[in-house]
Amino acid sequence: MAPQDRLAQVSSHLNFPRGLFHNQTAIITGAGQGIGAETARLFANEGAKVVVADVDDEKANAVAKSINDIAPNRAIVVSGDVTNASYINTLVQKAAEFGDGKIHIIVNNAGFAWDGVIHKITDKQWDTMLAVHNTAPFKLVRAAAPYFRVKDKEPRVIIQISSTSGIHGNAGQANYALAKAGVVGLTKTIAKEWGPQFGVRANTIAFGYITTRLTAAKENGATYVASDGTKVALGIPGRKEVKAGDEAKAYAEIPLRRPGSPEEAARAIVAVASPWFSYVNGETIEVTGGRNI
Ligand SMILES: NC(=O)c1ccc[n+]([C@@H]2O[C@H](COP(=O)([O-])OP(=O)(O)OC[C@H]3O[C@@H](n4cnc5c(N)ncnc54)[C@H](O)[C@@H]3O)[C@@H](O)[C@H]2O)c1
Repeated sequence: MAPQDRLAQVSSHLNFPRGLFHNQTAIITGAGQGIGAETARLFANEGAKVVVADVDDEKANAVAKSINDIAPNRAIVVSGDVTNASYINTLVQKAAEFGDGKIHIIVNNAGFAWDGVIHKITDKQWDTMLAVHNTAPFKLVRAAAPYFRVKDKEPRVIIQISSTSGIHGNAGQANYALAKAGVVGLTKTIAKEWGPQFGVRANTIAFGYITTRLTAAKENGATYVASDGTKVALGIPGRKEVKAGDEAKAYAEIPLRRPGSPEEAARAIVAVASPWFSYVNGETIEVTGGRNI
């Protein structure tokens, strides 16, 4: 192959002048802030129509506005709690309307941690983690089945967001670790059920330490407020700011010696959803700066 032909084959600019996801519609849950918000912006930047889904209506609207201010009508908000079954149906219906009858991408990203040591985890803590991280993604994928089990030759991709806690376990996170491990099995099953006839790709991305409110100091006081009013304190107890020069010690377990930014996490999601990953299917991709290798 001549070099210029090879360039035409790999060049994003030449092959996708209107973005990697032009004419595609993506649902991103938990897109009101953190990793999900950056993912929504990057998908929109690559031409996708983006459905910003989050329980926090105000934050979701701010994200959609930041997109629509640059690219009008590129984003809509469908706010609600993913553990609410009727919300899941509304989300799929509104996404399909926005996408002119099509949905191409789901990123099951909404989530939080409700930590406790095994002998103190309550039933509510346990059930909530499974509801948010397992049942909700399953119900969303099931509700969206009519838009994924199609043969229109357009790409269809499902991405589940997991964690190194799900792959390696983590003290104080039995409920979260179990739930984050659960999506690995769900993802592989989607790949096996919907790959053969419909070409749907499904992959899991397991993040390490990404700087969002989930990994900030608990003393900052961030809380998750569930739709039933339950408040969960978020963050890592006693997490200290790392001073310049202390990185080697503070991040000794991460070969890159730093946490990842939400945008770096989002880039991995968009990369996996992109045509460059068209033969990557059923995998669990760890995005950790090299931690746990
Ligand atoms: N930050 C990390 O280091 C890290 C590491 C591994 C995995 N993760 C996972 O990444 C995902 C995104 O987390 P983040 O770090 O960006 O956190 P975040 O708190 O910044 O953002 C999460 C968003 O999800 C929304 N959300 C939570 N529960 C919801 C529900 N029931 N219904 C609708 N929206 C809901 C929140 O309102 C919030 O806007 C989560 O699934 C988390 O478990 C994060």
